Amino acid sequence: MVSDPLISDSMVKELKLLFSKKEIAETVAGLAREISADYADKRLVLVGVLKGAFVFLADLARHLTIPVSIEFVRIASYGSQKESCGKITVNKDVEISLEGKDVLIVEDIVDTGLSLQFLIKHLRAHHPSSLKLCALVDKKARREVEIKVDYTGFAMADGFIVGYGIDFNEQYRALPEIFVVD
Ligand code: IMP
Ligand code: MG
Repeated sequence: MVSDPLISDSMVKELKLLFSKKEIAETVAGLAREISADYADKRLVLVGVLKGAFVFLADLARHLTIPVSIEFVRIASYGSQKESCGKITVNKDVEISLEGKDVLIVEDIVDTGLSLQFLIKHLRAHHPSSLKLCALVDKKARREVEIKVDYTGFAMADGFIVGYGIDFNEQYRALPEIFVVD
C-alpha cells in the first residue's frame, strides 16, 4: 500500500500491488525480444500514445536491438475520468511521414478499444506499409470494438490500475510498479 503525502486526504486511494518491478521488467524485455526479431530488417517507427505509454515506451525502446524512430501522439477522449465515451480527437500528431514505414503503436492499456480504433484509422490515413499494436495491459473482457493486439504485456480482467506511466487524475504516473486502485 502506498499513501502519498502530496495528495490531499480526499484523493488518497488504496493501492494494491498488481505487477512488480521484476514482472514488468521481464515482460517488457520479452516484448522487446519479440519485436526486435519480427522487425529485424524493417524501418520501425514506434508511436507512443501520450501520456500513459511514456514509461513503457522508454523501457521498451531501450531493450530493442534494432534501430527505431520514436514518435508520439496525444488523443483526447471526452467522458468520465475512468471511462472513455467514444468522442475522440487528436491533440498531437506524429511529426514525420509514416508513408511506407513499419509502424508499431505503443499503448499503455486497451480497455473498450474505442481510442485505439480511432487512432488506428487515423494512422492508416498516413499510409504506413504496416501498422501493428503493442499494449502493456489488455483488458479484453471490457472490449466494445474489436481490436487486434499484436504484442500484449499483461492481460487483466476488470479493475482500474495506476503506476508505470498510468494515472488516475494525473496522479501516480511516476510509481515504478503497477497497482490496482480500490
Ligand atoms: P479505451 O478507449 O477504452 O480502450 O481506453 C483506453 C485508455 O483509457 C487507456 O489508454 C488509458 O489511457 C485509459 N484507461 C483505461 N483503463 C485504465 C486504467 O485502468 N487506468 C488508467 N487509465 C485507464
Ligand atoms: Mg492511453
